[in-house]
Amino acid sequence: MTKLRFDVLTLFPGILAGPLSESILKRAREKDLLDVRLWNIRDFTADKHRTADDSPYGGEAGMVMKPEPVFAAVDAVKAEHPGEGFLTILLSPQGRVFDHPAAERLSRERRRIILLCGHYEAIDERVKETLVDEELSIGDYVLTGGELAALVVIDAAARLVSGVLGDEESAYRDSFGDGLLDHPHYTRPAEFRGRKVPEVLLSGNHDAIMRWRRKESLRATLLKRPDLLRTAELTKEDLRVLDELKKEHNLH
Ligand code: ADE
Repeated sequence: MTKLRFDVLTLFPGILAGPLSESILKRAREKDLLDVRLWNIRDFTADKHRTADDSPYGGEAGMVMKPEPVFAAVDAVKAEHPGEGFLTILLSPQGRVFDHPAAERLSRERRRIILLCGHYEAIDERVKETLVDEELSIGDYVLTGGELAALVVIDAAARLVSGVLGDEESAYRDSFGDGLLDHPHYTRPAEFRGRKVPEVLLSGNHDAIMRWRRKESLRATLLKRPDLLRTAELTKEDLRVLDELKKEHNLH
C-alpha cells in the first residue's frame, strides 16, 4: 500500500491544521494513507526574539526569510528519517504551475516530500540554491504565503492515492483524468423548480447514458476550456460529436 508522506515547513502551521483535520484528508490520515507533519520554522530560530525574517541586502522595501532557521528545520526533518529520500518543494509564485499531471506525479512519490512555505516577500536565495529541488506555483496570482498552496498540493495529490477516495467518490469520472471536464450530475428530485433531469438519465439505457456523458464532457470542455481539447485523448467519434456541438453552439 502506498502512503504519501509530507513534511510541511511553515511559520504558520495553524493555517494547515484545520483543513488537514476535516473530511477526506482527515480520513486518509486516519487510514494511514497520508502522513502530514507540520513543522514550525520559528522553532528553529536561534535568538530570543525567534526572528525568522530580516531586511533585504541592497536596501529595498520588504522582508526576506532568513536562511538559518529554514536550513535547521530541513536538517531536523531529515534527521528524523535517517536513510530516507526527500523531495524538497518550495511553494512560490515563481514555480512551475501545478496541474493534474504534477498531482499524479506527486501521488506516486515514494520519497518524503518537504513542502517549504515561503512568507513575506521572499526567501533567501541560498535556500533555493541548495535545499530546493523544485518550485511549484498553484496559479498566476500572489498569495500571502505558501500555506494555502501547500494545502492545494497535498489535497490534489492525496485524492489520487488508491484508497483515499471511497468507491462512491472515485466512481465519478473526474475532470482532467482523461483531459476533459466532467459531465453534469443530477440527483433526486427528477424535477426541481420546473427543471427536469435529462430524460436519458432516467431511461436505464446504459449505452445511451454513457454516450450522453461523453457528449456533455465534450460540450463542457468545448464551452469552458477549449484549450484542453488540444491535448485530450479523443476518438474519431469524439471528433464527430465535437463537430456536431460546434454547429449547435455556432462555434466555427
Ligand atoms: N506563494 C505565494 N503565491 C503563491 C502561489 N501562487 N503559488 C504557490 N505559492 C505561493
